[in-house]
Amino acid sequence: MIDNEIIVQGCPQNNSKSGVSHPNGIRTFHRTFSPTELTMSCRLKDKVAMVTGAGSGIGRATALAYAREGAKVVVADINSPSAQETVNRIQGAGGAAIGVRCDVTNAQDVRALIDHTLDAFGRLDCAYNNAGIEGPMFSIDAYDEDAFDQVIAVNLKGIWLCMKHEVRAMLQSGRGVVVNAGSVVSTLGQPKMAAYVASKHAVLGLTRSAALEYADRGLRFNAVCPAIVATPMLDRFTGGDEKIAQSLTINYPIKRILRAEEVAEAVVWLSSDATSYLNGHALMLDGGFSIQ
Ligand SMILES: NC(=O)c1ccc[n+]([C@@H]2O[C@H](COP(=O)([O-])OP(=O)(O)OC[C@H]3O[C@@H](n4cnc5c(N)ncnc54)[C@H](O)[C@@H]3O)[C@@H](O)[C@H]2O)c1
Repeated sequence: MIDNEIIVQGCPQNNSKSGVSHPNGIRTFHRTFSPTELTMSCRLKDKVAMVTGAGSGIGRATALAYAREGAKVVVADINSPSAQETVNRIQGAGGAAIGVRCDVTNAQDVRALIDHTLDAFGRLDCAYNNAGIEGPMFSIDAYDEDAFDQVIAVNLKGIWLCMKHEVRAMLQSGRGVVVNAGSVVSTLGQPKMAAYVASKHAVLGLTRSAALEYADRGLRFNAVCPAIVATPMLDRFTGGDEKIAQSLTINYPIKRILRAEEVAEAVVWLSSDATSYLNGHALMLDGGFSIQ
């Protein structure tokens, strides 16, 4: 199992427990690595990666994973202290990161986020547009209009705003990869969550349209569509009760909750050159749920 508290900056050279400092300032190995971990470093070496909603859950796990793969990471969140905590974890493990407070529904914030990224690191190579909210659970006839607007503002307009400014930065270098946060409900209905479900369907529309618009200019756009993930968002559904959480997996072929680190691993893969011909794809990370 990968320990997301530990980040390795640079390529592994050995498996010394004490760690080695190199003349170029890169540190390697603070502990013994499993064979799996040894095969997975440096996929994003020297890249600049940005994650929204990176102060919690999947976003934090992805920021840590990006850093582990050698990227410099921009940690964006509406919640500054939680973003700073993610930055501290990355820096404490020898990685490079900056935190930026950003409300993805606010055009000025998003513009400033990307400008800050360019000022700090000179480029933007990878972006994971992850910030999202679940909204309340009500049938359509009882759903509050303001709540509907807020879910759409964060989950849909927020991603569009981020893409708009990420594209601006990525076209400068003629290269870039964007991953958007979909969901298993990007292709399925779900009672009492119409705003959330509609927003996640729309994320695929944005992703596919951008994939076609910019493919011939070196940019790729894909979406990751996870099933139920163990994060604070899930805790808000279940009240933190693990039995309730486990009961939600009853119709899932793989009868367990997904880990945030597993989503992060998929996002890293989508962001890497390993998927250089993958464009406009919606990666269903649902253990086979949606093919039943
Ligand atoms: N947890 C799941 O079961 C699950 C499943 C499928 C998809 N997702 C999606 O994954 C993404 C992350 O979910 P999570 O479970 O990690 O949630 P989470 O609640 O743990 O984290 C969401 C983060 O987004 C931030 N955020 C909220 N509104 C914001 C805004 N306006 N601007 C900037 N940041 C904002 C929050 O502060 C928080 O740090 C969401 O888009 C969610 O819809 C989650």
